[in-house]
Amino acid sequence: MLILGIESSCDETGVAIVDGKGRLLADALHSQVDLHAAYGGVVPELASRDHVERLLPLVRLALDQAKCRIDQIDVIAYTAGPGLAGALLTGASVAEGLAYALGKPARPIHHLEGHLLSPMLASPAPLFPFLALLVSGGHTLLARVDEVGKYVLLGDTLDDAAGEAFDKTAKMLGLPYPGGPALAALAEKGNPQAYSLPRPLWNSGTPDFSFSGLKTAVATLLRKLEPISLPQQADLAASIEAAIVEVLVKKSLQAMQQSGLTRLVVAGGVSANLRLRAALKAAIGTLSKTRPGKSIETAAEVFFPPPRLCTDNGAMIAFAAALRFQRGLLEVNASSAEHSFQVHPRWSLFTDPGRS
Ligand code: KG4
Ligand code: ZN
Repeated sequence: MLILGIESSCDETGVAIVDGKGRLLADALHSQVDLHAAYGGVVPELASRDHVERLLPLVRLALDQAKCRIDQIDVIAYTAGPGLAGALLTGASVAEGLAYALGKPARPIHHLEGHLLSPMLASPAPLFPFLALLVSGGHTLLARVDEVGKYVLLGDTLDDAAGEAFDKTAKMLGLPYPGGPALAALAEKGNPQAYSLPRPLWNSGTPDFSFSGLKTAVATLLRKLEPISLPQQADLAASIEAAIVEVLVKKSLQAMQQSGLTRLVVAGGVSANLRLRAALKAAIGTLSKTRPGKSIETAAEVFFPPPRLCTDNGAMIAFAAALRFQRGLLEVNASSAEHSFQVHPRWSLFTDPGRS
């Protein structure tokens, strides 16, 4: 069994191949960062046009890496949503077109399911059930994951996503797109205690998030500091990063305690953030010690995807398809191939997990 996975929901074109056990055989990726940098953010039309040009060469590259032929692929899995409509359509069309030519099925995969399960591509992989903190450019949520396809939403953002908070405040600081990694790099040179910024919903007792107030506070502070010096800029970057990270850590630990789940899995682009990784590891260590009576086996643990697979990629889509296939949730008979398709720019993982 060989699964080809295609990701094209935003500004990364990803094509990967996994076997039926979910082992990664090839992972080809093209990032559009340079394309969008001049505009300070993703330009949807440019993203779609670039995906069209990149997809087939990346399919060839992935086949070369896996040392297999296209006719050996059994099923093509593609991101059908959520994401940019035009960008999603490019991946879906290529997937369905290739599948039609090969007489094989193509299957839609939920982008967030790809992110949620991606930490299982690392070693050691987390066992079910786990608490997932999904932090990307478009989403910030906490979910209980009992099994593949069994997701319960525990907490969500009321406004901006964590990645969006990184990107928007980075833009205010004059940093290049994509703002998250740029702000994190500048933050390394600054003092995270330099400026006191809001930690929205800190004491709400709920697992929900809100980041738009942070953005407003940064805008107000920047007006006061004008003209801002380089050291002040680094201090502000560090203070912004600390505010976002501290909220994510507090809400994750609170949700672990409330749900009784001992494994925390972090995924999505912001899970690449080193300060977040270090803070969660430290907090989880403390949590393990403060749970008297718990054996080593049930001590709290935290898992991250391999750094390369935190942001969008084809591997997580192919891998999610493999896990669905293993559980009988993915129909792969050629006779079931239909090739009419829809993409879902807005698609909830919780009310409609996209069983295929
Ligand atoms: O998962 P992803 O590639 O795309 C979405 O599905 O949204 O996440 C992209 C987000 C962007 O907001 C980006 O700034 C953020 O992840 N990001 C980071 C880091 N690397 C990527 N944020 C903070 N620190 C990083 N190191
Ligand atoms: Zn994503």
